[in-house]
Amino acid sequence: MNFPATRLRRLRSSAALRSLVRETRLEPSALIYPLFLCEGVGVRREVSSMPGVFNLSIDEALKEVEACAALGLGGLLLFGVPDEAEKDEQGSGAWAEDGIVQRGLRAIKNLSAAGSLVVMADVCLCEYTSHGHCGVVNREGDSFVVDNDPSVALLAATAVSLAQAGADVVAPSDMMDGRVGAIRSALDQAAKANTPILSYASKFASAFYGPFREAAASTPHFGDRRTYQMDGANLREAMREIEQDLAEGADMLLMKPAMPYLDVIREARSRFDLPMGAYQVSGEYSMLHAAFQRGWLEPERAMLESLLSIRRAGADFIVTYFAKDAAALL
Ligand code: PBG
Repeated sequence: MNFPATRLRRLRSSAALRSLVRETRLEPSALIYPLFLCEGVGVRREVSSMPGVFNLSIDEALKEVEACAALGLGGLLLFGVPDEAEKDEQGSGAWAEDGIVQRGLRAIKNLSAAGSLVVMADVCLCEYTSHGHCGVVNREGDSFVVDNDPSVALLAATAVSLAQAGADVVAPSDMMDGRVGAIRSALDQAAKANTPILSYASKFASAFYGPFREAAASTPHFGDRRTYQMDGANLREAMREIEQDLAEGADMLLMKPAMPYLDVIREARSRFDLPMGAYQVSGEYSMLHAAFQRGWLEPERAMLESLLSIRRAGADFIVTYFAKDAAALL
């Protein structure tokens, strides 16, 4: 097994050989594209910190859906950007029958092109609450608590409403304890026993969500999310979160963020056998784009390498703002 008998460079000598022995592959069908739905007609408003990412009115989103299907993407992940005036303390827009995502889902599911896409809906309250937190807030003098159990009930109602509007998969991203179990039983009671739950089981309180909060107008108005999202230092706790969500009935896992937490993805892959995705979050996308704009990184190579790293760490699929750009190259 020693040099010179073994020369590892032999298998790198041509593109054909390199392709034959490649261990990890990227395919459009393993990429999920996030869409931000907003009110209006003909609206296509670019998110300033995310070049190429837009708030889209439903008619514009339908054009994106056609493009995503033509590229062979695996699916979509829908977020709502309701008008500010519609927001309230509870986030009631999240489960409104005529909510922005509910209407978007009905329109998207009506398109024949959407048949090849798994249409997922994010389940959270932060885009709908007037305070921007992911659950119900109780104020106690100068401090506040995001109240777990009442929030879980609202999240379960949201998941049911999204499933009824046509979501193929519901994806809770709030990080309240017990929400997967509550969502599972609410779906079952609503005759949606076949709707799978993609749980953001391992979601860290991260600086890399910054640009998303501009895209979704969901920045908390006070405090931060550290009492519900996980501390970035904790890998073992991430495994406990996953175990818990599995026990409550999660069908798939979503790990988030991706690139700063590849070790967590790898560890989850070696411990758990259910399908697992990873979310290459907004800050990961913006940081690469900032370097592209300056000519500091080669866009295509850096994009594909960042996605490959996430697959190599063990993710089966990737939620990424690069989904369309990457699929066009693959
Ligand atoms: C909602 C949610 C967030 C993201 C996905 N779902 C924001 C947050 O937790 O603050 C972030 C996605 C991204 O940064 O691309 N809770």
